[in-house]
Amino acid sequence: MGSDVTALLDELTLAEKIRLVHGTADPDGTATGYVPGNDRLGIRPITLVDGPLGVRAMGERATAFPASIALAASWDPELAREFGTAVGRETAAHDQDVLLGPGVNIIRTPVGGRNFEYYSEDPHLSARTGVGTIEGIQSTGVAATVKHYVANNQETNRYEVSADVSERALRELYLPAFRAAVEEADVDAVMTAYNRVNGVHMSDHEFLLSDVLKDEWDFDGLVVSDWWGTRSTVDAAQAGLDLEMPGVELTEYLPELDADSFDADPSPPDGTSSDFPPIPDVSAYFGEPLREAIESGEIDESILDEKVARLLSMLESTGRQNVAECETGSPSDDSTGELDTSEHRQLAREIAIEGTVLLTNDDVLPLSESDSVAVIGPNADAAKLGGGGSSEVSPFTETGPLAGIESRAADASFERGVNPIAESSFFADSESADASEAGTSIDDAVSAAASADRAVVVAQDDATEFTDRDSIELPGRQNDLIDAVAEAAERTVVVLRTSGPVELPWLDAVDAVLETWYPGQADGEALAAVLFGDADPGGRLPVTFGRSAADYPTADETAFPGTDDVAQYEEGVFVGYRYFDDRDIEPLFPFGHGQSYATFEYDDVTVSETDDGCDVTVDLRNSATRTGTEVIQVYVGKSAAPVPTPERELAGFESVELGAGDSATVTISLAREDFAYYDEDSGWTVPDGSNTVHVGRSSRDIRATADVDVQ
Ligand code: NOJ
Repeated sequence: MGSDVTALLDELTLAEKIRLVHGTADPDGTATGYVPGNDRLGIRPITLVDGPLGVRAMGERATAFPASIALAASWDPELAREFGTAVGRETAAHDQDVLLGPGVNIIRTPVGGRNFEYYSEDPHLSARTGVGTIEGIQSTGVAATVKHYVANNQETNRYEVSADVSERALRELYLPAFRAAVEEADVDAVMTAYNRVNGVHMSDHEFLLSDVLKDEWDFDGLVVSDWWGTRSTVDAAQAGLDLEMPGVELTEYLPELDADSFDADPSPPDGTSSDFPPIPDVSAYFGEPLREAIESGEIDESILDEKVARLLSMLESTGRQNVAECETGSPSDDSTGELDTSEHRQLAREIAIEGTVLLTNDDVLPLSESDSVAVIGPNADAAKLGGGGSSEVSPFTETGPLAGIESRAADASFERGVNPIAESSFFADSESADASEAGTSIDDAVSAAASADRAVVVAQDDATEFTDRDSIELPGRQNDLIDAVAEAAERTVVVLRTSGPVELPWLDAVDAVLETWYPGQADGEALAAVLFGDADPGGRLPVTFGRSAADYPTADETAFPGTDDVAQYEEGVFVGYRYFDDRDIEPLFPFGHGQSYATFEYDDVTVSETDDGCDVTVDLRNSATRTGTEVIQVYVGKSAAPVPTPERELAGFESVELGAGDSATVTISLAREDFAYYDEDSGWTVPDGSNTVHVGRSSRDIRATADVDVQ
């Protein structure tokens, strides 16, 4: 604790300190969370705001960036840094101190309602994307909050479910992105998850909050609860929770919210408890009850002091508070930030392009300027901004696929084909909540497709916080629509706007499929740029596309959503492609997959041992007549380990743009630790002997393999 902080703590009364460890209503009504500060001593009020896809200040607008999964699909930490910087500047422009993002939870089940808010099924890709984002945010004087710590992998029964998971799986899969956020990006705040881990609510989890996060990783920032996610006073205070949010009842917090919408909680799948309220009915545990616990001696006041110190240090680290000057009552200047600049608009477009994954292309893309295009799809006239929940952003401007294509094609027509897909929204008065539209017909879509050179069908799912998806099928009659259009059209391109994998039963009947995730406000601009070849689709899959939900380790109800409030993580470290490889399941599209409009040759690959691990060097050549992006992926196989390990695990990657005919030599360095597995008795262990390095274009398209001994 710095001496300025200690001096300030000495001046604060017990009641004043208690005011700094739980939230209250924001008098301006714009922040998601608010701590009143202390006027007497010049501690500024602290505002916290959602979230991962852009700034969600209540009643305000901001740039709606592509969803986190799209950012991760770019496989480009530098782009993540640019995103973080932009969203940090918008946070500052809204005069908010702390951004409640990014979310780095591992995508464990393909139906997870918030998968679009997360990055990947892979810890390395999640960590790299998260570190870039956090460093960008914090470079603007705004604090980032990495969330939701930890194993918050489902929405069903999310306040009660216990992720029963081995320490090895926690260490190897679920914790690394948080650890990198702390150790590499020096993140200012960590948000606890709602769920329990091995029976203990995360807000009470002393092992994970104190032993691992604060002691082992040396986290000196603030641990904040998820909203209404604090579950006790004494246990939480002692376990390491520093700030209870929001500290007010739901009805007071969001008076305009349609409270009934929370009761519309999905009928819980069999085996889950249905009697649990959607939001725990809690009062402020860190208000009066904490004061009483201190006065009665149940908790030592030094525990409270540490929490306040962490809050003050966090504020100081952002530059938005000068603790020393507090005594004279003159907090430092706010940074003013910037909102909705042309740079931010361009960046939203660029991320959407770089995150777009070309899944398959039978020589139909790029489209030609002279093509007439039938744009088909129930929601193809509107941008897909994001999913429902706390990450919703209201943009200043937006372009849907239809407008984007109209601006580029010689001729464009539009048919919905089927009724609009409803878009879940946290806010009851959302414009997009109404899905009814009379007069749509598949026949009209078929006629339009038959009379155009190309049909582009835009399909989407509907994912939201609070609910997991029922399946990975496209909702409504979109599959029927695609079948019918594919039969009638000369060539058919399907554009997916989904939160993750979906089944593609018509795959063989169509000519190309693009996955654009939830592309944000620049949806149509980015799509047109990719369709017409102004830009290369730079994305690669951050999640495996299975043939159905049954292909994933969460197919059994004991694994997901769990029974008797417990989800068994029996699959251990075998999540995502690790599971598909282990069980020999053929994915529809593997992790890391994605095509460029260019073609790349791996002319030479060498792996050389170094003092600290090994270097992988690739001579890469673009053999096409156009510029394109390749993502070189390096996987390790811990073949010498005495325990079962995944066949391959991503350990390094590099996104490389090369002009027509150009070559580059790219070196990706791996450290010894990249070969380590977690032994529950002795900790991180590098297996002795010969391990394996695989270099490829995806987890299943390996171009070179070498043995290495890094001991
Ligand atoms: C609950 C969500 O889980 C969290 O991500 C969000 O930041 C808070 N609500 C505040 O909206």
